[in-house]
Amino acid sequence: MALDQTRPVALVTGASGGIGEALAHAFAKGGYDLVLVARSADKLAEVAGALRAQGAAATVIASDLQAPGAGAALEAEVTQRGLSVDVLINNAGYGITGAVLEADLHELLGMIDLNCRILTELSWRFGRGMQARGRGGIVNVASTAAFQPGPFMAGYYASKAYVLSFTEALNHELRPTGAHATALCPGPVATGFQERAAFDKSMRLTALPMETAQSVAQAGYDGFAAKKAVVIPGAMNQVLARSAAFTPRLLLLSAIENLQKKRSGTHG
Ligand SMILES: NC(=O)c1ccc[n+]([C@@H]2O[C@H](COP(=O)([O-])OP(=O)(O)OC[C@H]3O[C@@H](n4cnc5c(N)ncnc54)[C@H](OP(=O)(O)O)[C@@H]3O)[C@@H](O)[C@H]2O)c1
Repeated sequence: MALDQTRPVALVTGASGGIGEALAHAFAKGGYDLVLVARSADKLAEVAGALRAQGAAATVIASDLQAPGAGAALEAEVTQRGLSVDVLINNAGYGITGAVLEADLHELLGMIDLNCRILTELSWRFGRGMQARGRGGIVNVASTAAFQPGPFMAGYYASKAYVLSFTEALNHELRPTGAHATALCPGPVATGFQERAAFDKSMRLTALPMETAQSVAQAGYDGFAAKKAVVIPGAMNQVLARSAAFTPRLLLLSAIENLQKKRSGTHG
């Protein structure tokens, strides 16, 4: 089946696995065709095959979004294929654990680059078409980490606070035009994220019941379709995220420090 714009098109970054792959499936189920972006061309081809079997058209653009000029190149490739993006899903991202001053600087700045700069650039590049057409929108994947500072994962928590703040404001600007933006804020989900962040494999992610990538993606799709500015999948995640604003800062900082030290295996 060709991707010929007879159905709306959603572009998903980080679609080769985890939450991005699940978001691609949720949007396919909702009637979208897909443009899949990540570095791993082989995994993207597998995801595209599964989407086609589900009745959606899917095309693959293998790209390292951290490479210089990747945002402009992605926009040019989409245009060259004769496509316009109705929904942009900025999902590609990673986290690193440990003390800020012990971090690999390249990894630390690369994370800010992917989680914040690229997300902003793609929002600008593809958002202008949505504004002009007066429809469509952007899903930016933040995290429940966005709601408080995170000692021993400081850059990651701060990057997601940026994503949440940026998306709520962008949504406010877009709403009068007919387009909109949603910040999807998952709590812990078992994906490739934990290995990239070098979490201690012996640690459970949380003592609480966890959402799956599929349930997070469905909540993201439903929330976007309902034009919600912020979506936090899972009742317990909502309580924890929203209560952060009312919790004394020192208590919050100590609690996150304990959690992150456990996750990185440096506790005690
Ligand atoms: N898992 C969680 O607990 C959790 C919780 C809250 C929020 N999140 C957020 O959810 C989003 C997705 O994470 P995930 O949990 O699904 O992790 P994941 O399984 O590691 O997936 C990350 C995706 O990003 C892609 N990616 C990484 N670097 C890239 C680059 N330079 N250029 C293009 N694509 C790149 C990866 O594909 P390639 O390796 O093929 O490039 C992969 O498809 C992230 O923004 C993360 O911060 C995750």
